Amino acid sequence: MRTQVAIIGAGPAGLLLSHLLHLQGIESVVLETRSRDEIESTIRAGVLEQGTMDILNETGVGARMRAEGALHHGFELAFDGRRHRIDLTALTGKAITVYAQHEVIKDLVAARTEAGAQMLFGVRDVAVHGVETDKPYVTFTQDGEEQRIDADFIAGCDGFHGVTRPAMPQEGRNDYQRVYPFGWFGILVEAPPSAPELIYARHERGFALVSTRSPTVQRMYFQCDPKDNADNWSDDRIWAELHARLENRDGWRVTEGKIFQKNIVAMRSFVSTPMQSGRLFLAGDAAHIVPPTGAKGMNLAVSDVRLLATGLDAFYRRGSSDLLDRYTNDALKRIWRAEYFSWWMTSMLHTFADASPFQREVQRAELENVVNSCALSTALAENYVGAF
Ligand code: FAD
Ligand code: DHB
Repeated sequence: MRTQVAIIGAGPAGLLLSHLLHLQGIESVVLETRSRDEIESTIRAGVLEQGTMDILNETGVGARMRAEGALHHGFELAFDGRRHRIDLTALTGKAITVYAQHEVIKDLVAARTEAGAQMLFGVRDVAVHGVETDKPYVTFTQDGEEQRIDADFIAGCDGFHGVTRPAMPQEGRNDYQRVYPFGWFGILVEAPPSAPELIYARHERGFALVSTRSPTVQRMYFQCDPKDNADNWSDDRIWAELHARLENRDGWRVTEGKIFQKNIVAMRSFVSTPMQSGRLFLAGDAAHIVPPTGAKGMNLAVSDVRLLATGLDAFYRRGSSDLLDRYTNDALKRIWRAEYFSWWMTSMLHTFADASPFQREVQRAELENVVNSCALSTALAENYVGAF
């Protein structure tokens, strides 16, 4: 088999890259270890920045997002028993949309299928070869048969645990990492929304987040031990914890309902550079991870592949590799700002077991500053909507 760009991984990065390349007249093949059903049902991100919405709309895959996603003009920060609204639109002129990542995946898979794309699901033993030559290729097995795809370029969009980052030459690599001593316990609940906008709460017992998915399904998270097991948490224990962390003076309470999914995710900040070597380019979680507090991971995957698609377009249309050569540098500017923001939100809102009384008071003072200072609220809002 031969193609122009072999894409490893059918997450938001891989599928959107394939879609953008198709619109530019560039052929690709997408290889994915999981089944189509699995990628279309794995619950992950929920918040799309304006720039992400724009690109989905501009490239013809935004109709369901516009119809079913919820446009949010603000969110709340809750601490010390009070809730404070951050008015995103008043502060930045922009908004965010709450629309689940797996719905974006469904929309992209549908568009690629309709365009007759080659997407191979359930592949095994994916390996990349010859990335330092201009004849790279990928080998894999499908239905027990060994296969090979020759390509001009390989895009590593296979997430944090994929095979493409480890395949990069180790010499000259720099990995930056911070692992947080806590995780997020996430639940899906059958219930009406508890509040019209998302609530990020800091409490002595730990962070909590009230998000939404639809008028009948809600998404909530709370800080937990990353090594804990979701089975240790009965529904009653989960509700007691959420009520305790979200208690506030105006008597507002989170609305309970049937919990139909529970999972725990670990939290880390991670950047691996360079994001390219020869004909292999990494995008999205394959190259970097942010803790979910800033809601940036999927949005960064989208901005990476936007740059990569532009670089590949310049290569095929004008024979220029200038943009491809600059890909790592160009992508890292946005990535490090998002790393900073996600670290900041995480540090400001979570409880650190080893924090001294002084550090705890300073953390509260920081939140007070953010909600009372127009400059700090604006900085928070600009970062959250991805204003620059
Ligand atoms: P992935 O989505 O991980 O996709 C990689 C794909 O590659 C997978 O389908 C995988 O099966 C496949 N793969 C792996 N190995 C191979 C292989 N060897 N061969 C072929 N295929 C392979 N981000 C936001 O922007 N906003 C949010 O609100 C937000 N909330 C989040 C909440 C939680 C609880 C979590 C866990 C994440 C959240 N994120 C959020 C982050 C976001 O989900 C990720 O950053 C995003 O999925 C990255 O997309 P990706 O395509 O780079 O990687
Ligand atoms: C969701 C996830 C996030 O990481 C976040 O910051 C806000 C919302 C969500 O899944 O709805």
